[in-house]
Amino acid sequence: MKFFIDTANIEEIRNANELGILAGVTTNPSLVAKEGVSFHERLREITAEVSGSVSAEVISEDAEGMIEEGKELAAIAPNITVKVPMTLEGLKAVKTFSDLNIKTNVTLIFNANQALLAARAGATYVSPFLGRLDDIGHDGMTLIASIAEIFERHNISTEIIAASIRHPLHVTDAAIHGAHIATIPYNVLSSLVKHPLTDQGIEKFLADWNKN
Ligand code: E4P
Repeated sequence: MKFFIDTANIEEIRNANELGILAGVTTNPSLVAKEGVSFHERLREITAEVSGSVSAEVISEDAEGMIEEGKELAAIAPNITVKVPMTLEGLKAVKTFSDLNIKTNVTLIFNANQALLAARAGATYVSPFLGRLDDIGHDGMTLIASIAEIFERHNISTEIIAASIRHPLHVTDAAIHGAHIATIPYNVLSSLVKHPLTDQGIEKFLADWNKN
């Protein structure tokens, strides 16, 4: 499983990129709005920083509008992936983007049929939202497992991005259940490295070393 970061904050992206594990970035309208910057300008900064896929979401609700917006976004840099919501209009737009060789990430996936439809329309990635399902008492991880099984059984090459990650256990379980990628907020990403026994071990090694 690869690691993406789920943020539009350039400092967080730079910090994560320095770790040498960053395979891509996902943004969404809420994350961009939090930054209070020009969307296109921020995408230029992110794509200059990160060579992997950078998801940029369209906000139009009709296919025509999505296609127009997506083409503009894709023109910013070759590693832009157009993020499209899971709707009937979204599927039409995904098919067009696929014909144009523009990569897509179909977002707001909450059941396996949505993921299969997106894949058949030509999506490069599908993003099932784990945390938001867990929030309403459903099991987000079962959804990841179902999509992974369906894609494997039918030889579908669309990659599964485990999204709406809330904590480190989501990351481990997403990897076990077959997600190809987890897109992770910076606070969760940086907490993955931590273990109290690691900290204690370092402290003890240093204390012993300094006794000499
Ligand atoms: C994925 O691409 C989305 O940006 C994101 O994971 C949504 O997560 P949230 O439920 O924490 O808003």
